[in-house]
Amino acid sequence: MSNHRTDRIRFILDGTVIELRNVDPTRTVLQYLREDLHRTGSKEGCAEGDCGACTVVLAEVGKDNRLHARAINACIQFLPTLDGKELLTVESLRGSDGSLHPVQQAMVNCHGSQCGFCTPGFVMSLFALYKNAQSPSRVTIDNALAGNLCRCTGYRPIVDAARAMYGCASERSDNWLLAACSSGPASSDEKRRVERLQSIQHGDTVALEYGAKRYFAPRSCNELAELLGAWPDARLLAGGTDVGLWVTKQHRELDTVIYTGRVTELCGQGVADDAINIGAAVTLAEAMPLLLRHFPALHELLLRFASPPIRNAGTLGGNVANGSPIGDSMPALLVADACLRLRSANGTRELPLAKFYLDYQKNALRTGEFVEQIIIPLPSAGDELRTYKISKRFDQDISAVCGAYRLRFDDDGRIVEARIAYGGLAATPRRAHRCEAVLQGALPSTDLTHKAQQALREDFEPISDMRASDQYRRQVAGNLLQRLFMDISAAQSGAELTGIYEYGRAREA
Ligand SMILES: Cc1cc2nc3c(=O)[nH]c(=O)nc-3n(C[C@H](O)[C@H](O)[C@H](O)COP(=O)(O)OP(=O)(O)OC[C@H]3O[C@@H](n4cnc5c(N)ncnc54)[C@H](O)[C@@H]3O)c2cc1C
Ligand code: FES
Ligand code: FES
Repeated sequence: MSNHRTDRIRFILDGTVIELRNVDPTRTVLQYLREDLHRTGSKEGCAEGDCGACTVVLAEVGKDNRLHARAINACIQFLPTLDGKELLTVESLRGSDGSLHPVQQAMVNCHGSQCGFCTPGFVMSLFALYKNAQSPSRVTIDNALAGNLCRCTGYRPIVDAARAMYGCASERSDNWLLAACSSGPASSDEKRRVERLQSIQHGDTVALEYGAKRYFAPRSCNELAELLGAWPDARLLAGGTDVGLWVTKQHRELDTVIYTGRVTELCGQGVADDAINIGAAVTLAEAMPLLLRHFPALHELLLRFASPPIRNAGTLGGNVANGSPIGDSMPALLVADACLRLRSANGTRELPLAKFYLDYQKNALRTGEFVEQIIIPLPSAGDELRTYKISKRFDQDISAVCGAYRLRFDDDGRIVEARIAYGGLAATPRRAHRCEAVLQGALPSTDLTHKAQQALREDFEPISDMRASDQYRRQVAGNLLQRLFMDISAAQSGAELTGIYEYGRAREA
């Protein structure tokens, strides 16, 4: 049954409720700020979510009735998705008396700005950090800045500013902005902001028309299915971290866009029936704590998945549905035997992820069908899970090769179940069945590793592209298998694992 519809969106900017009717569905927040409002603090560096010059912060009321802030990339966020949110740009941080925010003051004090082009983006990422962490470690600071590029290589003073900003408090009435992350009671300013945000919440379906373009933001799965039935060629939009680039880089025209971010059922996650269930519109940042509770071995992979602004918008559902051969979540989901719940107006069905990918950018979704949930069975006792991402850059880079491995051992140390999957080696992320067959029932040994590496060479015929050559990919995939056995053997003998922990500690020093 269709919901009541509205043709307007409302959001808050600097304390004012902005109401817009029938805006262009694919106009980006950055275009709106710079071209419509002439609010040019937020910069455009790359228009593809890579450089962070356009970073802004969204504030929303959480289930705890408190205000939560997250950094996003304005260059790939479509304007209508701001409905119901508060938008903060670098201009929002200035006090009414012109005073600088503690983050800005710290950047000045520590000489954190050189050419200045990247500075507003750094300030907004640091502002999000300021609102979300107290006394952050070097690893936390580096992670917060992973989505911001400074071409002047001025990171050291920026990191200094990140440490100094907590000591740069000033006296202003907008004290939610000025208060660093704390579990204390809400200030009067925060309460005012929460009330203002609550006043613009609504249960209507947003339905915008702009020339020949349409945008819908339904509230329920039934309605989403109904809309997809009526507009079978519509493009589903979740975080837009893939779709946004189709518009800004490939200049594709999207006639009908259906946004999943307001569909209540798609925004939930939890554990039931021995499985983690993640709604298709849950952001990667929201899914991370639940995933890490049950799969701590995914820590490095998830931290190296893009950057905080991308993870704050992008979803696991979007990653899976997009099905890029170098998408990072799929190898891990494949070895975990994940399933997808697919839904349409005709009902739901469950499909193992291993059967979802048919060919390059082709999946098993039928017309009118969408991903409702990702279902990940909880790991069993004795499971050893590992993932390795190989990319040119440590932070914010796309994989050349991504390997995921789940081995289950019996008490004698024999492999009783083997799951191996790779991204970057074929037209879709997929399992390495020949390699798995070699490992199944065997005892780990140097000889076994060589046989498994040989089988892996028969499993895949990688291609060469700008990220890596076919030879490099083949070599790396085999080397990762060797690393897997070394890491498992080190862990079983109580030795430390290699990875971000050591890396982080080394940088901490
Ligand atoms: C700077 C940058 C860095 C990145 N780094 C990484 C990285 O390190 N690793 C990586 O794997 N990816 C990376 N990505 C790609 C992207 O962030 C991920 O693929 C992300 O998970 C996509 O999610 P989204 O919600 O933004 O999807 P969207 O862009 O909204 O949608 C992606 C696709 O999924 C479809 N879709 C969305 N929801 C559904 C649904 N419920 N049912 C059916 N179809 C649906 C859309 O129609 C579209 O085809 C990066 C992107 C950028 C811009
Ligand atoms: S302009 Fe580079 S991330 Fe947005
Ligand atoms: S200060 Fe120039 S790019 Fe950062």
